Formats: sequence, C-alpha cells, structure tokens
Amino acid sequence: MTATDNRTETLVIEPQQAQGNGVLPSRPLNHAEHRAYYGVLPAPDRLPLGELASMIGHAGVRGRGGAGFPLYRKLVSVSGAARARRIAPAIVANGCEGEPASHKDKHLLWLAPHLVLDGLVLLGRELRATRAVLAVEAGAPNGRGDLVRRLREALNERDVRQDGVRIELAEVPGRFIAGESAALVSTLDGGPGLPPYSELSVRESGVGGAPTLVQNVETVAQVALIARYGPDWFRDYGTAAEPGPQLFTVYSGRQRPRVVHSAAGAALAPLIADAGPIDAVLVGGYHGSWIPAPLARHARLTEADLGAPLGAGLIAALPADRCGLAETAHIVRYLALESAGQCGPCLNGLPRIAAALEQLADPHQAARDRGLLERIERWCGMVEGRGLCHHPDGSVRLVRSALMTFRTEIAAHHAGQCTGGDRRPLLPAPARELVH
Ligand SMILES: Cc1cc2nc3c(=O)[nH]c(=O)nc-3n(C[C@H](O)[C@H](O)[C@H](O)COP(=O)(O)O)c2cc1C
Ligand code: SF4
Repeated sequence: MTATDNRTETLVIEPQQAQGNGVLPSRPLNHAEHRAYYGVLPAPDRLPLGELASMIGHAGVRGRGGAGFPLYRKLVSVSGAARARRIAPAIVANGCEGEPASHKDKHLLWLAPHLVLDGLVLLGRELRATRAVLAVEAGAPNGRGDLVRRLREALNERDVRQDGVRIELAEVPGRFIAGESAALVSTLDGGPGLPPYSELSVRESGVGGAPTLVQNVETVAQVALIARYGPDWFRDYGTAAEPGPQLFTVYSGRQRPRVVHSAAGAALAPLIADAGPIDAVLVGGYHGSWIPAPLARHARLTEADLGAPLGAGLIAALPADRCGLAETAHIVRYLALESAGQCGPCLNGLPRIAAALEQLADPHQAARDRGLLERIERWCGMVEGRGLCHHPDGSVRLVRSALMTFRTEIAAHHAGQCTGGDRRPLLPAPARELVH
C-alpha cells in the first residue's frame, strides 16, 4: 500500500449536537483528552450484560466494512455459538482497510484510537470474550506518522484492570484480501491469510477455533458512542433503514481524497461540489457500483436512492474528461491480481474479465472485436456466487455497473473513439503483473 493517507483531511458536514457526539476530533487525542471529548466509558455496573446488545439492536447498527450486515444479528449469532459449544468467544476489530482508495479506517484510528478500543472493551465485556484483537495493516502509513506505533501508545495508556479486557494489536499484510474476515482469522492464527476451505463461518469457528465476532473498526467505534449517548442519538443520524453517522472517503475531481463525516440520507452533490463536470460517481468501494452523473447530482446517500449500497464508504467522482472504462479496467485488473487465486472464479474468471475490459477500454481493440461485451457479461455470470469468499461477487458488481453506466463510452469505443481525453487512472491500484 502506498503512503497516501497524508492527503486526507477531515471535513465535518453535519452540524452536531453538544459534547462532541460522533464528530471526529481535528487532532489526535490521548486517553485523557479522549475522555474529556467523548465522555467517560460507562462502567460495567452501569451497563449490565445484555444491555449493550439491546442498545445495539435498537440503534440498528450495520457494519461499516462493506457488507452492511446488522451488528445485532452477528452478536446474537456469536454468543449463541459460544453457548452451544461452551467455549468463550473472541472479538476482532478489523482495521485492515485493504482497499487502497479508502482512508477512513486509518483516519479514525489515527485521530480517535480510544473510540475503537472502547468499543472493543464494551463488546468484549458483553460477549465475555477471552480474546480481543485490533488488526491493522503491517507498518500502516498515515502520512502523519506510524499508525502502529500510535496504536501501541494508545494501548499503553489503558488500564486493563479497569477495562476488564486485554486488547492485542495484530499487524496483517497490506493486501486487498487480507481484511476479508476468514482471511483475517487465518492470518491471526498464523495461517496463510486466505479464506480457508471450511463449512464453518468465523462466527462459529474463528480465532483459535473460538466463535469470533469480526467487525470493522468504524462499526466498533459506533458501539462506543452508542454506549455513551444512547441508541436514539444514533438514530438521529441517517435514515430509518440506514441509521447512524458514517465516515466516507471522498475523491472529488482532482482534489486530494478527504475523509468526511456524514450520514445516509444526506445529499451526495455537496460532497462532490468541487469536482467540476463529471461522468459518474463510484459509490461504496472497489466492490461498489458506478452511478451515472445525472443520478448522482440529485441522489441522497441511501441504498434506495442510489440503487447501490454505501459499502465501505468510498465516493469517487470521475471527471468528465476521464474514460470510465479505462478506470474500471484499471481497478478490475488490480482486483484480479489481489485475489487469493485459490478458487476457479478468481483463478480463471477475474483475469479474463480484467483482460477483456482492458481491450474494451482501448478503442482500437474494441473496434476490432465486437464480441468483448458479450464475453465479459457471460464470464461475470460464470464467476458470480462461486468463490469461497465474496471477492468475485463484489468484482462482478463493479463490472456490471460499469457496463450499464458507461454504455455511451462502449458505443464510442466500438466505433474506434474515446470521449475521455485524460486516460490516467484516478484511483490508486498498486500495479502488479497479470499472470493468469
Ligand atoms: C475481499 C474482501 C476484502 C475485505 N476487506 C475488508 C477490510 O479491509 N476491512 C473490513 O473491515 N472489512 C473487509 N471486508 C469485509 C469483512 O469480510 C467483514 O465482513 C467485515 O470486517 C465485518 O465487519 P462489519 O460488519 O463491521 O462491516 C472484506 C471482504 C471481502 C470479501
Ligand atoms: S473467491 Fe477468490 S479471493 Fe475469495 S478465497 Fe477464492 S480465490 Fe480467494
């Protein structure tokens, strides 16, 4: 991963209520400052067992790592598996942020590490977990300093006896696949860092065989806020279906990416107001969807409005002078190379789709081969739902949205022309050789 985090900045979009309430601080906070800013973490006697789970259920927290799965259901499932197997569960805060264009998790960890640590403590107490792990990219750069060192310092500031939960810091490889929950568990267990061939989910058998709750660090931080301010405070943000404050990484035109605090339901247009003329907006992440510019201009940030989930919170406006097909080919090539290459769809399908997209993105090649589009669509159908993890499905979602959104460009390329004058990639995708 490249050290691009120095190019992020915080922009607070929403006016907030008193007390800090969910706004990221503008500078990194130590533990004492953190407590002054957010308030003291509720002691165990003020939050009896079951109470936190019920607050989480009432708040309607959904995961911020991509899939948007309800946290409450995962909590219930992990604690049920632990009870059934009479084994103490484990909990992992996923701060890997394997997607190179995303900065919000490292940004959160840099500015407010104790919010994530508080969330881990609370979830650890609630589940009576014997292991609590914070996983981050090895040597994760932040531009402003060494994130791993910063997290070690934050951990040293904690009073483990008061917390009642000892948190381990784990460094994992900086690869796209590393943050997938089963791959992450494999790394933590000293394995190859790939999703294993197993009938059991990590909720049933994760770290060291224990039922394991893996949650994105932003989701974990939300728990620390809900425990302090309550579920109704959380529901004051967002919409009924997609409640709560949310962090987004925003690429707007040629501006540097920035991390934005907003919520579902807010208008998308102000976030990309400085983008100038645009062709489309990528929403969610590299497993997300392209939205055509006319829709993006009037859409609110909701799955219903956009027709695409907010996923890991990436919003990238594609300037009108860029080629959406070239941009997608660049990302899909990266996704194909980042696969673990252990299942058929990733081994055979994704590299073919990536290579055909590269041909489609080149007007000279596209004009010579009219069968490209049909082949890409057919291969997408063949890889979908067939991997050990959701990597092929997410990649197919991106490809299909590109084929829909960039229909006009596809027609132009078939005619040997390209409307995008600037073919440099907008979004980061560390280059590797396509070997398959
Ligand atoms: C290929 C792939 C990569 C992923 N990378 C990350 C990641 O870097 N960080 C993350 O939080 N979740 C990542 N996820 C999602 C995790 O598997 C898991 O669903 C998530 O950490 C659960 O947390 P949440 O429910 O709070 O979102 C990835 C999923 C896939 C399929
Ligand atoms: S689907 Fe792809 S990324 Fe997922 S485990 Fe299989 S080979 Fe690896």
